[in-house]
Amino acid sequence: MTTPFYTIGIESSCDETAVAIMRGERDLVANLVYSQAQMHARYGGVVPEVASRDHLRKLPYLVRDAIAEAKIDIRDISLVAATYGPGLVGPLLVGLSYGKGMAFGLSVPFIGVNHLEGHIFAQRLSDAEVEPPFMALIVSGGHTSLIDVAAYGEYHLVGMTVDDAAGEALDKVGKMLGIGYPAGAEIDRLASEGNPAAINFPRPMSGSPGFDFSFAGLKTSVLYHLRKHPREKKEDVAASFLASVVSVLTKKSINATKRYHRKNLVVVGGVAANAHLRDRLQTDGKEKGIDVVFPAIEYCTDNAAMIATAGAYHHIAMQESHPLSLGPQPSLSL
Ligand code: KG4
Ligand code: ZN
Repeated sequence: MTTPFYTIGIESSCDETAVAIMRGERDLVANLVYSQAQMHARYGGVVPEVASRDHLRKLPYLVRDAIAEAKIDIRDISLVAATYGPGLVGPLLVGLSYGKGMAFGLSVPFIGVNHLEGHIFAQRLSDAEVEPPFMALIVSGGHTSLIDVAAYGEYHLVGMTVDDAAGEALDKVGKMLGIGYPAGAEIDRLASEGNPAAINFPRPMSGSPGFDFSFAGLKTSVLYHLRKHPREKKEDVAASFLASVVSVLTKKSINATKRYHRKNLVVVGGVAANAHLRDRLQTDGKEKGIDVVFPAIEYCTDNAAMIATAGAYHHIAMQESHPLSLGPQPSLSL
């Protein structure tokens, strides 16, 4: 009997400390995520130095617990995969250094994973049926990009936000509404109780050619509206603002999928957890003959299962690994 190949994945690019273990390329045997969000909530956003220190404090325990959950011995690990960018440099450095140290100590290969590619691999983790080529919309707190995925590892940037990421706009509008950080999930809930047609917020860049997005102006429109109408119902503001975000994201990504002649649109990242976005994309996709798919909710927001999956794929299928001199790359792109 051949011994199973175990990959340990480590994610620490922002405010989630996460460790996962995969057996082979698909079999997830441990998946732990510790969110620092509550700790940052009092500051209204992620404080990088506080995040770094907390990753450092939490990571060894998560590794220990993941190994116990997987019911393996640390010496059974065959590959270490850790996020090396994009993200906050301090937090990245913590997970990356830990991962490299672990690979060195165990004398096993190390592979650095691009966090954005990790988000794309979250789909593979949830549903093995949808394989490239496909169009991917990565929509998170740090990114809003349309990527044509010809094959895993072959990415073509089709469009991206020219200012704020969609998740960032949601979090900032959440702050205006007095919602704690991160606000995406609460805006999602409030919007279900509000009227999306109550306020006519702009649909930025909706009519412009190309596939870029912009959310900073929309966020300012909400700010001005709230200054003028301080008693406006929170639910209506959330519903109307979200309707605008969802409308732009849906229109551009469906058009891009058609333009690139792809049959599938894969929507990943924290904002892909949004119920309104999921509904609208699926309805409009069906109308246009496009199959829109999403990872399971727990793989949309930051996690290490997606990092282990991407790392295992690159190592097992593509025979890749990185030298231990690999450093953090805060602005890494796909
Ligand atoms: O992918 P992610 O966990 O971290 C980054 O890589 O940025 O995404 C976090 C973002 C936050 O802006 C958060 O407000 C948003 O995802 N988010 C949501 C929902 N859950 C998380 N946005 C809308 N609806 C949700 N249900
Ligand atoms: Zn992310």
